[in-house]
Amino acid sequence: MSRVQAIELVYLFCAVCFIVALKGLSSPRSARLGNIIGAVGMTVAVGATFATPGLHRIGLIVVALVIGTAVGVPAARAVKMTAVPQMVAAFNGVGGGAAALVSLAEFDRGHASFGTAAAVLFSTLVGAVSFTGSAITFAKLQELMTGRPIVLPRQREINAALAVTALALVVWGLSDRSVTAAVLLALVAGVLGVLFVLPVGGADVPVVISLLNSFTGLAVAATGAALRTTLLIVAGTLVGASGTLLTRMMSQAMGRPLSSTLFGALTATASAAAAGPDDGADRSVRTGTVDDVAVLLAYAHRVVVVPGYGLAVAQAQHTIRELADLLESRGVEVVYGIHPVAGRMPGHMNVLLAEANVPYEQLREMDDVNPQFPLTDVVLVVGANDVVNPAARDSPGSPIYGMPILNVDEAKAVVFLKRSMRPGFAGIDNALLYDPKTTMLFGDAKDTLTSLVSAVKTA
Ligand code: TAP
Repeated sequence: MSRVQAIELVYLFCAVCFIVALKGLSSPRSARLGNIIGAVGMTVAVGATFATPGLHRIGLIVVALVIGTAVGVPAARAVKMTAVPQMVAAFNGVGGGAAALVSLAEFDRGHASFGTAAAVLFSTLVGAVSFTGSAITFAKLQELMTGRPIVLPRQREINAALAVTALALVVWGLSDRSVTAAVLLALVAGVLGVLFVLPVGGADVPVVISLLNSFTGLAVAATGAALRTTLLIVAGTLVGASGTLLTRMMSQAMGRPLSSTLFGALTATASAAAAGPDDGADRSVRTGTVDDVAVLLAYAHRVVVVPGYGLAVAQAQHTIRELADLLESRGVEVVYGIHPVAGRMPGHMNVLLAEANVPYEQLREMDDVNPQFPLTDVVLVVGANDVVNPAARDSPGSPIYGMPILNVDEAKAVVFLKRSMRPGFAGIDNALLYDPKTTMLFGDAKDTLTSLVSAVKTA
């Protein structure tokens, strides 16, 4: 067996690792193992690449590896769970940019066939869009700029002109194998990436990150075709396919077509403005005390906990479990109602609750828990807001209209644990906060839950 054949075999092993890793990541139980298998596959792949015959500039590659590791490892270790989406955006953008640059370098070597030129230009176009688009999503989520949609005057015409220019550059690049055309294409695509993401509003940004992630996958696959590296093609296709599926699932869970997420602001009409935030100034809310709520919980038959983004911010997952255990020891049935887009990333609540070893049997998906709310005595909404907002179900003009929600308003009593009357990520008022059956317990979720644990013990 030649060295090249041996490397191909090793690459096949790595490709299998990536597929098994993805399978593992599909469940919280196996996600950690899946992650390790993926990392092993990637490490072996990088190692095998060094054995490629004729590899030159090895010193430069090692320097790049060291820099990447020195930045990536501490960043991934230090990141708070609530900031994972922006970290994914940053890493994804770098991946797209790298795919575009590697393709351009390959083009620069000359003698590209038509197929190679097509792959290079595709990778350049999509990778550059992903790079600059991801940079904007990072800035939005990190609050380095406003999270609101930004639409430039005549943006549709500008976008169309840029798209036509990009197409013309692709034709030029294909016919003349022109490196200048490819470089200009990268610049135009970079501007397109910025304009593509600017009109997307805060709550929709994670969906765009997922979409850009699939773009990066496609760019990497095209780079693999240009370099004739099977493993890059496989890995890129896996990222492209899984990113596309995830984008679709997120759009479905938010009850909106992807086109509305991406282009909603460009085609917005006055009706959206009419459905803007209502400050609720003329309505009153019922504020409870920890002791009132402790009695309500301790003497309930059935309690549903609805966790949301605020639970993650407060890092109150261990305390909510302590409260749930305490209630169960008193004979109260406790389950957790999990909305698919609660938090800021897919599976956010599952990961958070798994960290506190909440038994999986207590987690109920939206479709399973919804029919049970009319039979529920108390719903404890911990740092969630949009995912229980009845406007999504009842107000056709609302920006979140159509998103399936947890129908907690059908329970006998609802308790909200949050710090203020401020809205959730979608920036809209929640009429349930003013409902007579709702009690507000204001404060940081962890502090409130700690007080509740003490109060239930003496209730
Ligand atoms: P949100 O609607 O964002 O509400 C979170 C609530 O937590 C806020 O109202 C906030 O109120 C409260 N909060 C924040 N810090 C807190 C703390 N330390 N203690 C107590 N409460 C705290 O969250 P949600 O209900 O989980 O909904 C998720 C949103 O993200 C949806 O709009 C969804 O569409 C969007 N989104 C999610 C995803 C994924 S995949 N998860 C993807 C795209 C979009 P105060 O400020 O008053 O405390």
